Amino acid sequence: MQIAVRIDHCDERPLQFQLFDQIRSMILRGLLRSGEPLPASRILSQQVGVSRNTVILAYERLLLEGYVESRPSVGTFVSAGVPEASIFALKNPPPQAEIADAHEGREANAVRVPRSQQVVTPVKGLAYDFWVGRPSADSFPVREWRRLVDTKLRYAGARLTEYQDPQGLFELRRAIAEHVGPARGITVSPDEVVIVTGSQDGLNLVSSLLSFHTTAFVHEDPCYQGALYLFDNRAIRMIPVPVDEAGINTNELPSIDRALSYVTPSHQYPLGATLTLERRIRLLNWANETDSYIIEDDYDSDFRYEGAPLTALRGLDTKGRVFYLGTFSKCLGAGLRLGFVIIPPEFVAAARSWKTLMSNGSPWLEQASMAEFMETGAFNRHLRRIRQIYRSRRDALIRELAVHFGDVTILGSGGGMHIAWQLPPGFPPARTIEELGASIGVGAYSINSGGACIRPEHPRSDDTLVLGFANMSEDRIAAAIANLSRALDRARSHPQRNDPGRKVGP
Ligand SMILES: Cc1ncc(COP(=O)(O)O)c(C=O)c1O
Repeated sequence: MQIAVRIDHCDERPLQFQLFDQIRSMILRGLLRSGEPLPASRILSQQVGVSRNTVILAYERLLLEGYVESRPSVGTFVSAGVPEASIFALKNPPPQAEIADAHEGREANAVRVPRSQQVVTPVKGLAYDFWVGRPSADSFPVREWRRLVDTKLRYAGARLTEYQDPQGLFELRRAIAEHVGPARGITVSPDEVVIVTGSQDGLNLVSSLLSFHTTAFVHEDPCYQGALYLFDNRAIRMIPVPVDEAGINTNELPSIDRALSYVTPSHQYPLGATLTLERRIRLLNWANETDSYIIEDDYDSDFRYEGAPLTALRGLDTKGRVFYLGTFSKCLGAGLRLGFVIIPPEFVAAARSWKTLMSNGSPWLEQASMAEFMETGAFNRHLRRIRQIYRSRRDALIRELAVHFGDVTILGSGGGMHIAWQLPPGFPPARTIEELGASIGVGAYSINSGGACIRPEHPRSDDTLVLGFANMSEDRIAAAIANLSRALDRARSHPQRNDPGRKVGP
C-alpha cells in the first residue's frame, strides 16, 4: 500500500520528523483509521526517497506516542487507543465563539514560527566540515583589530553612551563609497550608503522600503534561503526564475509590473555562476520597463580568482533601480554583524527613517574600528592576504576531487568561498552523499542543506554538492576528500540491501 506523504526539501526539519508529522496528521484527520496498516518501512523509504532508517525512526516515534502499534512479524497498524480522543476533538471542533475567546487579544500570526535560514553548520562535531560561507577563523586580523578597538575605546567620549547617526557613521560610509568605486565600479556618495547589521538587515530594510510597491518577489532558483524565506514569510507572491551557467535566465523574467527581484550576480548563490554582461543589461531593462527594483547581493565578490570582476549591476544602473547589498561577514567575519546597502538616491530619506525605526542605527564601536581599518589601507592588505589563502584552498579542493573522482565538473570556482560539484552520472543523489559524509564525520552539503533552496524540477536539484573551502587547511581538505572517497567506495562494494542497485563512482 502507499500513503500520501512527501518530503519537502526546503523544510529544515529532520526527515524523520517530517514523516512523523505527516502520518500523525493523517491519523488525526481520520485519513488513516484505527487498525489500518502502514506501509512496510522498506516500501515507504523507496516511495519517498529516504533511507529506511529514517522511516524506522518516524515509526518508532509514532509508536512511542501511541499513534500506531506494532504487531511482531506482521507490521505496523494505526492504534485503536489514544488518538481517538484527538480524532473526536477534530471532528467535533469547539464553536467559533470559544476559539475566539481563547485567542482574544492575540494576533493569529503572532504564534506562527517563520522559516529561517541555516547560517551555521547543521551537523555538530564533524571532524571535517565543508560548511559554506565561513571565513577562515585563523585569518581574522586579531592583533590589528584589538589595537583599533583599544584606541577607539580610549577616545570614545560620549559616542558609546549616546545615539549616533542611524544611517551609520559618516567615516565608514565614506570609506565604503571610496572602496566600491575601484573594487566594484560603483560611483556613489557617502549619503547613499546606509550601514546595517549584516546584509540580512539590509534585506529587511529594502523589504520595508518597498512594501507598498512590491507585487511579487522574483528570485533565483536556486536561491539563498535568507532572502527567499524573508519574503515568503511576508506572504508576498514568489516567482522563481531558473539559474543556469550564465546566472539567472533573463529570458524567463515574468511580465508583471512592480516586482522586486533578488540576484547574486558576482557569484550566484549557491551554483556560483557570474551573471553575463548581456543578462545584466537585460535585467536592468526589465526593471525599467516593469517599474521593478533589483536587490543585488554581492556577498563574496571580494574573492575573484579568475578574470576581472564585472562591474556591479549598481555600477551599470542609470535609473535608480538597484539596491546594492554589501557585507563584511565574508571578507572579515560574520560575528562583526556589519554590512551596508547602497540606496537609489530617491529612497535615501526613507531608508534613513526605516533604519531608525528598525534599530536606531548599528553599533558604534564596530563601525568606528572598521572605518579606520579601511581608511588606513589595512582592509585592502587583509583582502590581498586572504585571497591568496583562499585561492590555494580552492585549488587544493579541486585537485583532491580530481585525484579521487577523475574528471570532475566544478561550478563557480572563479570566485568566492565555496564551489559546487556537479556529481557524475551514476553517483548517488547529493542528499545520500551528504548523509554518508555525515556518518564518517565529513560535512558536504546538498543544495537544500547548504543554505539555499532549489525546486525539485531544477536540473541541479539533487546532483550537486556545495563545498565551502575557506575555513579548511589544504591538509584537512585532502584528508576529508580521501575519507569521503573511501566511504563512497565502501558503499559501492557493499550496497545496502534496500538500496535499489545504485552504482557509485565513475
Ligand atoms: C547569498 C548570501 N548573502 C548574504 C549572506 C550574509 O549575510 P549577513 O551579511 O547577514 O551575514 C550570506 C551568508 O551566508 C549569503 O550566503
